[in-house]
Amino acid sequence: MTMLETDKVFAGSIPENYDRYMVPLIFEPFAADLAQRAASLAPGAVLEIAAGTGVVTRALAPKLAPETRYVVTDLNQPMLDYAATRQAADSRIQWRQADALALPFEDAAFDLAFCQFGAMFFPDRVLAYREAKRVLKPGGHFLFNVWDRIGENIFADDVTNALAEIFPDDPPRFLARTPHGYHDTDLIRRELEEAGFSHVTIETRAEQSRASSPYIPAIAYCQGTLLRNEIETREAGKLQAATDHAASAIAERHGNGAVAAKIQAHVIMAAA
Ligand SMILES: C[S@@+](CC[C@H](N)C(=O)[O-])C[C@H]1O[C@@H](n2cnc3c(N)ncnc32)[C@H](O)[C@@H]1O
Repeated sequence: MTMLETDKVFAGSIPENYDRYMVPLIFEPFAADLAQRAASLAPGAVLEIAAGTGVVTRALAPKLAPETRYVVTDLNQPMLDYAATRQAADSRIQWRQADALALPFEDAAFDLAFCQFGAMFFPDRVLAYREAKRVLKPGGHFLFNVWDRIGENIFADDVTNALAEIFPDDPPRFLARTPHGYHDTDLIRRELEEAGFSHVTIETRAEQSRASSPYIPAIAYCQGTLLRNEIETREAGKLQAATDHAASAIAERHGNGAVAAKIQAHVIMAAA
């Protein structure tokens, strides 16, 4: 299963719905973890790749020293614009649109490059890793995480299965194909080594995804991710019905009140 060209367009109402629904549902626990790991390296210059709406930026900035240089990037300017509205004024932070595959920075500019849940979206991971390596100082660190397979990420799996019932002939497979499509740890290790990284460590980490009702994960995945585009392309006007159906499926499995389910990711660290 390969990524589609449209699997990278985070725009329109996606940034706002992403930040409102997806971020608290699945990104916050891993952002706290990544920020902790990043801060413990006490980097003087930091590059964030694929920062999205800035959930890690908000967690990390308070932990960095006053003189730190912190460059926050994403391919999609609407995501960064949204991130900037949520960040307190901070003269250490520089926002910049950037493609992970062609970083607009000189060689050996950073002590740490990190990326939360972005690598799955890179059409050429080895090229992106080479770019990360190039902009790191020798001995610098590259830190990132990727989702584990969809079966370990329960609400994503529930929503995908529910949508397959609505569109049996052409099920929207965005979640399985892209966010949950890069979980082979041997492949990740090989690609990092091919790009010149060493001392690769990979830790598999489970967290809980929590929401006040079954409707929250349904609207988060159906309207705050690129799944939205996939549903609308199949049948204009079906988005709300699809969201409601996903909510019913989650309610059937997890109950009608507050819901919680497992999410799991790999956390990877490599030396430049
Ligand atoms: C799942 S979001 C993660 C965002 C953020 N790190 C977080 O944890 O919420 C994936 C992000 O990757 C960005 N992205 C996709 N392709 C990219 C590329 N080639 N270079 C940089 N960012 C990219 C998207 O714009 C999106 O913001």
